[in-house]
Amino acid sequence: RAALEPRAERTCAIVKPDGVERLGRIMHAIGETGLAVASLRMAQLTRGDAEAFYGGHVGKPFFGRLVEFMSGGRVVAMELVGPGAVARWRQALGPTDSEQARAEAPESIRAAFGTDGTMNACHGSDSPAAAAEELNFFFGSGSTVRRCGTNQGTTL
Ligand code: PPS
Repeated sequence: RAALEPRAERTCAIVKPDGVERLGRIMHAIGETGLAVASLRMAQLTRGDAEAFYGGHVGKPFFGRLVEFMSGGRVVAMELVGPGAVARWRQALGPTDSEQARAEAPESIRAAFGTDGTMNACHGSDSPAAAAEELNFFFGSGSTVRRCGTNQGTTL
């Protein structure tokens, strides 16, 4: 029987700086996906962190804006676990551009909480391999990402 059940998978979700203001509502939406939150960390990315995280997009016209945005405020990174987690989370997010999401997937998270292609509320890994790398970036023992929270001097 176990062999017939879909394999649990993990993905990396990030609530981006524009989404952190509405973290409670976004956490509710994450709950609706049925995926479990296995790890969670609030962090403040430096420009260097954001450049490294989005290294695959170096040279694209939106790269500078993306790095500026992602290092401009706190983010909340999560490990989401469950069957087909990568696809399930991206399905819940909707299209990258929030305007397109409102037109094509009005129930999606980006339709509800995003503004455009840069300020789109949340990130989701695009493959299990990318998920492994991204989860290592935030949660690996060698992670240098700066944690933040009220017990570490962050002003809310
Ligand atoms: S692409 O062009 O197919 O590689 O784009 P995509 O894989 O959908 O996501 C690229 C990430 O860059 C962010 N970003 C933008 N994408 C497209 N257009 C514009 N103008 C843009 N500006 C920023 C986008 O939010 C994606 O971030 P993540 O964190 O992966 O969602």
